Amino acid sequence: MTDEPLPIARTVDEVAAALQPAWERGDRIGLVPTMGAFHAGHLALMRAARETCETVVVSLFVNPAQFGPGEDLSRYPRDEGGDALAAAAIGVDLLFAPAESEVYPPGFDTWVDPGALATVLEGAFRPDHFRGVATVCTRLFGIVRPKVALFGRKDAQQVAVLRQVVRDLALPLEIEARPTVRDEDGLALSSRNRYLSTDERELALALPRALDAGLAAHRSGEDPVAVVRAALEAAPGLTLDYVERADLGGDTLAAAVRVGTTRLIDNVLLADGAGP
Ligand code: PAF
Repeated sequence: MTDEPLPIARTVDEVAAALQPAWERGDRIGLVPTMGAFHAGHLALMRAARETCETVVVSLFVNPAQFGPGEDLSRYPRDEGGDALAAAAIGVDLLFAPAESEVYPPGFDTWVDPGALATVLEGAFRPDHFRGVATVCTRLFGIVRPKVALFGRKDAQQVAVLRQVVRDLALPLEIEARPTVRDEDGLALSSRNRYLSTDERELALALPRALDAGLAAHRSGEDPVAVVRAALEAAPGLTLDYVERADLGGDTLAAAVRVGTTRLIDNVLLADGAGP
């Protein structure tokens, strides 16, 4: 734990002033892009960055460009004060928490539009989502100039899309994916879990349980997609958006469900040792 206050940059110029010495030293800079409302999954990314990087930057920006009409942009949980304390305790060097006008200043008109991978799974249900993610991350990479950016494997498709963007645009950084962090009962941590009532949270457990059943089915030679679909279709109180098997940096079984007004995604790797 540290009692040092965490420096917070609000503007691109403030980031540059704070990072100039690290850029000049050639530090390995690790960036953890977030939308805040930190949970143990975010903190695990920050700790991983702290272990391998000389300078650790966390960005906190609820990116309007990755939310569709009618999605949860306006109610997305926000707790900058609590987030800053949690990041400081891990020894993060800089929190970049810009206003929207700093990320998308007047005249901003360049979008990163990832291809086929962004149109399936999540992309089929959230058409411009990955365009928003790819654009904001590319801009953050330009502002912070990290050598590595760290993301949770829970958003496996996001990781795969960003790896494609980095490869296609020859951006000078690595994308590192870290394992999904789960509550003791198996629910993958997500800032959106805060929307769930106690009863809904209980219903939501059907998602990780179905994926576990799919993994077990795969290991015994059955079709994992069929097993997960049957389990989720039979689960009370859930609406299944999709379950699919896809190569997302490893053979992955991915699903999305809605519980009340909350949309949850999760995935498991089918191949031992595959993945990030
Ligand atoms: O995973 C998230 O929280 C967001 O999609 C990200 C990567 C911070 C981009 O806004």
